[in-house]
Amino acid sequence: MEQFALDAVERITTRKPEVYDTIAVDPLTPLLGAEVSGLDLSKELTDEQLDEVKRAFLAHHVLVFRDQTLSGEDHKRLAAHFGELHPVALAADGSDEFILEISATRESRAVAGAGWHADGTADAEPSLGSMLYITRTPEIGSGGDTLFANMHLAYELLSPAMRTFLDGLTAVHDGLLAWQGQTPPPEYVVPRTEHPVVARHPETGRKLLFVNGAYTSHIVQLSRDESRAVLDMLFAHIARVPMLNCRVRWTPNTLVFWDNRCVQHHATWDYYPHSRYGQRVAINGHRPQPGGTVAP
Ligand code: SIN
Repeated sequence: MEQFALDAVERITTRKPEVYDTIAVDPLTPLLGAEVSGLDLSKELTDEQLDEVKRAFLAHHVLVFRDQTLSGEDHKRLAAHFGELHPVALAADGSDEFILEISATRESRAVAGAGWHADGTADAEPSLGSMLYITRTPEIGSGGDTLFANMHLAYELLSPAMRTFLDGLTAVHDGLLAWQGQTPPPEYVVPRTEHPVVARHPETGRKLLFVNGAYTSHIVQLSRDESRAVLDMLFAHIARVPMLNCRVRWTPNTLVFWDNRCVQHHATWDYYPHSRYGQRVAINGHRPQPGGTVAP
């Protein structure tokens, strides 16, 4: 590995660990994700518990809470501690405005989220984070894992010359791309927004790569051919470097909370014709701010 990549990993693995009193936090990898135990999320969290969950979220970016029994109201109440809830686009009549059903059955011909992406990046103010609560896992006992990738590290593992090149560029995120050639219903107002290619996390100040294969159509300052080549290189980098990833193996009644500002995810559909069911609540974020030219 190149020295700059070793330095990037070392910066994370030698960070002073957070200390928690009310929860236990067990990292999934040294670089991304953690299992959190000691909480019953159906109960109102104390200020101290909430503060520790927030610190763990900023340190690990993906938090896994197992064996939770949650109503839709519990799920929304928990999410509301982190920001305003994001209404579901094209919510079915009679369904909850803020709860998106994530469901796959024998009849499915596609599943939500199969492809690297962060939620809602075509919006002017992309999602802060999502909470997915999976209650039914495939009957065969495995499958349907969700993969996550750390976009801070994705940026830091690029060469200094590539980072300098990308800093200051902007890219268009186009909601139509996610429809993969299908026509959305007429009532769907397609979001389309220009965002910095390299952004800064609003809470930690760390730089991150903010382009994804599901929504990013092109880099504004480059020719179409150059843009395609650079985006394809970045998407391959995100998909190809195992140390960027953690993998959540779901058990029934697990809630996972991920940070859409600095993590991408990819649902694995390896269980057809078996079924999987869950509900997702998303939290509104703010407009990403450019990373600037100073060090990561
Ligand atoms: C999503 O993209 O939110 C769905 C993820 C999953 O089903 O694992």
